[in-house]
Amino acid sequence: MAMLRRLALAFFLSCFSCSVPSLASSDDFLQCLAKKIPSELVYKQSSSDFTDVLVSSIRFPNFFTNTTVRPLCIVTPTDAGHVQAAVLCGRRNGVRLRVRSGGHDYEGLSYRSVRPEVFGVVDLAKLRSISVNESESTAWVNSGATIGELYYAIGKNNSELAFPAGECPTLGVGGHFSGGGVGMLMRKYGLSSDNVVDAKLVNAKGELLDRAGMGEDHFWAIRGGGGQSFGIVLSWKIQLLHVPPTVAVFSISKTLDQGAVDIVTRWQVVGPSLPDDLTMRVKVQGQEAMFLAVYLGTCSSLVATMGREFPELNMTSADCRSMTYLESTALSFTTLANIGTPEEVLLNRTSGLDISVEGKSDYVRRPISRAAWNDIFSWFKKNGSGLIMLEPHGGFIGSVPNATTPYPHRDGVLYVIQYLVFWPGANGAAPQTWLHDFYDFMGQHVTADPREAYVNFRDLDIGQNAVVDDVSTFESGQVWGERYFMGNFRRLAEVKAQVDPTDYFRNEQTTPPLLHRRN
Ligand SMILES: Cc1cc2nc3c(=O)[nH]c(=O)nc-3n(C[C@H](O)[C@H](O)[C@H](O)COP(=O)(O)OP(=O)(O)OC[C@H]3O[C@@H](n4cnc5c(N)ncnc54)[C@H](O)[C@@H]3O)c2cc1C
Ligand SMILES: *[C@@H]1O[C@H](CO)[C@@H](O)[C@H](O)[C@H]1NC(C)=O
Ligand SMILES: *[C@@H]1O[C@H](CO)[C@@H](O)[C@H](O)[C@H]1NC(C)=O
Ligand SMILES: *[C@@H]1O[C@H](CO)[C@@H](O)[C@H](O)[C@H]1NC(C)=O
Ligand SMILES: *[C@@H]1O[C@H](CO)[C@@H](O)[C@H](O)[C@H]1NC(C)=O
Ligand SMILES: *[C@@H]1O[C@H](CO)[C@@H](O)[C@H](O)[C@H]1NC(C)=O
Ligand SMILES: *[C@@H]1O[C@H](CO)[C@@H](O)[C@H](O)[C@H]1NC(C)=O
Ligand SMILES: *[C@@H]1O[C@H](CO)[C@@H](O)[C@H](O)[C@H]1NC(C)=O
Repeated sequence: MAMLRRLALAFFLSCFSCSVPSLASSDDFLQCLAKKIPSELVYKQSSSDFTDVLVSSIRFPNFFTNTTVRPLCIVTPTDAGHVQAAVLCGRRNGVRLRVRSGGHDYEGLSYRSVRPEVFGVVDLAKLRSISVNESESTAWVNSGATIGELYYAIGKNNSELAFPAGECPTLGVGGHFSGGGVGMLMRKYGLSSDNVVDAKLVNAKGELLDRAGMGEDHFWAIRGGGGQSFGIVLSWKIQLLHVPPTVAVFSISKTLDQGAVDIVTRWQVVGPSLPDDLTMRVKVQGQEAMFLAVYLGTCSSLVATMGREFPELNMTSADCRSMTYLESTALSFTTLANIGTPEEVLLNRTSGLDISVEGKSDYVRRPISRAAWNDIFSWFKKNGSGLIMLEPHGGFIGSVPNATTPYPHRDGVLYVIQYLVFWPGANGAAPQTWLHDFYDFMGQHVTADPREAYVNFRDLDIGQNAVVDDVSTFESGQVWGERYFMGNFRRLAEVKAQVDPTDYFRNEQTTPPLLHRRN
């Protein structure tokens, strides 16, 4: 009892006396911003536009409720100097900053705090230019761009160039590249973060650095080590990659009666060993499995490949559509029903605020048995509000050594599972309970020690940092960090200690500095 009380007191003190600066320093912070950044770029809570700017890229209504701790202000920089000024003002006055690019964090950590804390948000939405260098096959893209805008800029410049990244066009480049970037080109070319060749960031001292300035350890960490931990990345130089003038796509659904269990069971070994040019993901929802594929080639060659590699699916030329790679990105790979969607949908940054989501992830290295797939399908009888998406690894992504970039889920991984439940509005107790129970059930079928997880499918249930002496502890970070980064977590924590030893850039799940404390 006394122990509990002491812990509660310690928690109270660490929350309120250390990390929350006095009101005076909040005022000083705002005055400091006012001196260095044009007033129309700074939205205080008292500004009439504050709420509009705050929700502008909030994706999920459950993070826009009374339980959420909101920022003191939102800064919307239009050049690097504004970002540097915000960091210097924050450091001087003990006010932390959270950075937001596309706002798609699954826990909303780019704009809300779970714990009581005074913080500002640097929202990069106004820094979103993209410049393609066709002769070099590279581009510089600012963090505030969406991946839809990036796909559009590249594909319109040259329909045979592309960049590997995720499916949802409103994802922000800043958060997405910071955590990896899993998508339909990764079996051929790897993650987004595997194809970054330079970057510009503002570090915890407010300095603007490129790759040469930050050094190779710091540059390693920002390519997949998770957003927020290592500074504010303003822009990324990326290597563009070749795609053919047209690609072939299909989506085929199989119900239980049509053999879904057998076909998914077989897919687990086929999907990760197909030629690199062919990526076939699976969505399981209700009593149905949907197989969605993109092939860097023609329909006739795809039909032949499928007949040879995966006859169980009975794919025919009638299932196949040929289009430019850019057109295929506009489909978002959820259904072919929206075929012919104009490419301009990629430029729509609005995503609506009506559906809440909770997500989780797992990795599979040993195929799940047919009997277990029967059980998994029976979970989807219990409720229709959930789905899982299976994304095959293997190919190039599996061949990259597991310490080359922070993403460690490489050799031997068959696929990643993304779990999602949706519900209208903000209150979703029932679907969330279903998800948690289902995730517990799945534990026996997926990787263990650690149970691997993907940082971009952020999940606070797997752990949150404890803060001691105003610094997140390495031990508390290991609990969730080794699940996201495995053997790379320690190196990330060493880099953090070099570049941000006082843990200025932090949230509930940022890499803590590995400090060698004197006792
Ligand atoms: C609908 C949906 C679909 C998705 N599909 C995919 C997918 O296909 N593949 C995949 O890999 N992932 C996918 N994700 C996950 C997605 O990659 C992550 O949520 C990603 O972090 C979003 O980036 P953001 O910039 O939009 O998010 P934000 O919420 O802005 O940021 C996410 C995190 O990164 C930090 N951060 C943001 N910008 C910067 C910056 N410039 N510098 C440093 N840190 C920064 C934030 O502080 C926060 O901690 C999906 C998510 C959603 C909601
Ligand atoms: C906050 O709570 C009050 C009552 O408790 C409720 O009326 C209001 O709608 C809530 N606001 C949001 C944004 O959820
Ligand atoms: C593209 O890169 C090349 C080689 O670095 C450079 O000479 C050229 O000026 C760049 N072009 C553009 C449009 O930036
Ligand atoms: C593609 O980008 C280059 C600059 O690298 C530019 O010169 C060229 O005009 C662009 N082409 C198209 C079709 O936009
Ligand atoms: C695939 O086709 C074969 C023969 O055409 C048929 O016997 C089989 O049932 C089909 N399988 C599925 C899953 O539709
Ligand atoms: C952009 O997407 C939103 C949400 O899906 C939709 O409501 C809106 O109509 C779209 N805007 C345009 C211009 O297409
Ligand atoms: C299933 O979903 C419905 C709403 O779609 C909800 O009312 C019900 O409680 C859910 N059941 C379970 C077991 O989660
Ligand atoms: C890479 O894989 C090897 C062999 O499985 C393992 O021993 C090592 O710890 C892994 N490294 C990382 C960074 O996860």
